[in-house]
Amino acid sequence: MKRREFVAATVRGMASIVAGGSVQAQEKAVAPFTLANLPYAFDALEPYIDKMTMEIHHGKHHAAYVNNLNNATKGTETKSLEDILAGVSKLSPVIRNNSGGHWNHTAFWNWMKPKGGGQPGSELATAITRDFGSFDKFKEQFGQAATGRFGSGWAWLIKQHDKLVIASTPNQDNPLMDIADVKGVPVLGLDVWEHAYYLKYQNRRADFVQAWWNVVNWDEVGKRFVNAK
Ligand SMILES: [Fe+2]
Repeated sequence: MKRREFVAATVRGMASIVAGGSVQAQEKAVAPFTLANLPYAFDALEPYIDKMTMEIHHGKHHAAYVNNLNNATKGTETKSLEDILAGVSKLSPVIRNNSGGHWNHTAFWNWMKPKGGGQPGSELATAITRDFGSFDKFKEQFGQAATGRFGSGWAWLIKQHDKLVIASTPNQDNPLMDIADVKGVPVLGLDVWEHAYYLKYQNRRADFVQAWWNVVNWDEVGKRFVNAK
């Protein structure tokens, strides 16, 4: 390998670590919080999620959550993102909305990948069949949580002790927050805010949910399932 190729390969390798492997690091990170690059190109999830939606969603919406969270936590006690979520009931609504927005979107980008979809790996597949009856029944229930969430929010697959549970939360709340009705470790989540789908699907949230299964990164979901405590 020529030196120039070696340098290029090293830079690509570092970029993939920063972009793709830093989700858990971000959850433990303290202010100032940062917006990581997407782990793929903006058009990589086409035709299921269009390039412009991804550009605005990541570069405007997620970026705003990060900026707002940094502004709102300036001068306050230094806490990691996950510690903020765990004690969010004692913090301001601005911190609640933007810490959730940052955590949720960081995970969301990594719960998707180009040429995703298919089926979960064996350990998670076994748990899904045990707790929902079958993979198809799980998809149906998760889809109902996603389409049934009134207004803006998220649908979740959560690990609660050793059981998998489906839930949904309003706004940017999530199951790691102490104020959540259903608490647990999110294994998979779907953003059903209109900003996630409106340009391509307009009001047809159910069509977006259906299409989204084609980009789910089951490797990442499986890892989260195994690592969830
Ligand atoms: Fe979003």
